[in-house]
Amino acid sequence: MLYCYSETQPDDLLNGFSTMMDGGSDARRITIHKPADFAPMRKSGRLAAETLDMIGPHVVPGVTTEALNALCHDFIIAHGAVPAPLNYRGFPKSTCISINHVVCHGIPGEKKLQDGDILNIDITVILDGWYGDSSRMYVAGTPSTRAKRLMDVTYESLMRGIEAVKPGNTFGDVGHVIQNFVESQRFTVVRDFCGHGIGQRFHEPPNVLHFGRPGEGPRFVPGMFFTIEPMVNAGRPEVKILEDGWTAVTRDRSLSAQFEHMLGVTDTGCEIFTLSPAGYTAPPYQ
Ligand code: MF3
Ligand code: CO
Ligand code: CO
Repeated sequence: MLYCYSETQPDDLLNGFSTMMDGGSDARRITIHKPADFAPMRKSGRLAAETLDMIGPHVVPGVTTEALNALCHDFIIAHGAVPAPLNYRGFPKSTCISINHVVCHGIPGEKKLQDGDILNIDITVILDGWYGDSSRMYVAGTPSTRAKRLMDVTYESLMRGIEAVKPGNTFGDVGHVIQNFVESQRFTVVRDFCGHGIGQRFHEPPNVLHFGRPGEGPRFVPGMFFTIEPMVNAGRPEVKILEDGWTAVTRDRSLSAQFEHMLGVTDTGCEIFTLSPAGYTAPPYQ
């Protein structure tokens, strides 16, 4: 099952115009933003990236995920923004922190990180009404060789997918590149969660799948804003949701990794809004 946040079409057109793309089963209304809308997305994307830069040195064995959440919350507020996850569809915290076999939507709490834990921290800010959404992997202490390779493959799959974003190509081209690379490395792509359109809403059409066939799905048009956020498992791709209604874990309890960038389609390719000002890519960050 695909858990997508935007089952309904945007109810109103806050900005730019919308167009019905010929995208097969994912044909939906995708907002085409104005050139002037890139500027506020650069600001919101940069703040999300700065939050991820800030938190890195705090990810150490013994720290609780609630403490990391609080640091991110305060940083976002201090920069004049609001953490989008807090109270979003009942989510109780300001960030998602997903450790080891948690695939996504982990809820920060009093659990202490242990040496060798790998974790995803997913930050979404709302700055001047515009969303900025990005996530990276971190390590407490020293990762296993396999965990390190899982993170490296996941990061590279994201960047290879981004390379395929340009007018003329389709969303299916991106999904195919990601799936092809991940499976060539003997890891698997999670099917139940996807990237999403974004802008003045958290989640809007289209669903950005991290698997697929070349030529499938809508074609890229300058002014489309969306995330790519592949979740990659060391074992089987299936997930289940825990009793809290949020935490997604691998069914076989294998390790899972994820990186997320937010980008806008340009005339010649795309602009990544969430690049790290510190130049951080994948762990180790130094
Ligand atoms: N930031 C996540 C994403 O990449 C969404 C988190 S929704 C929440 O789309 F409610 F779990 F915070
Ligand atoms: Co996202
Ligand atoms: Co996110």
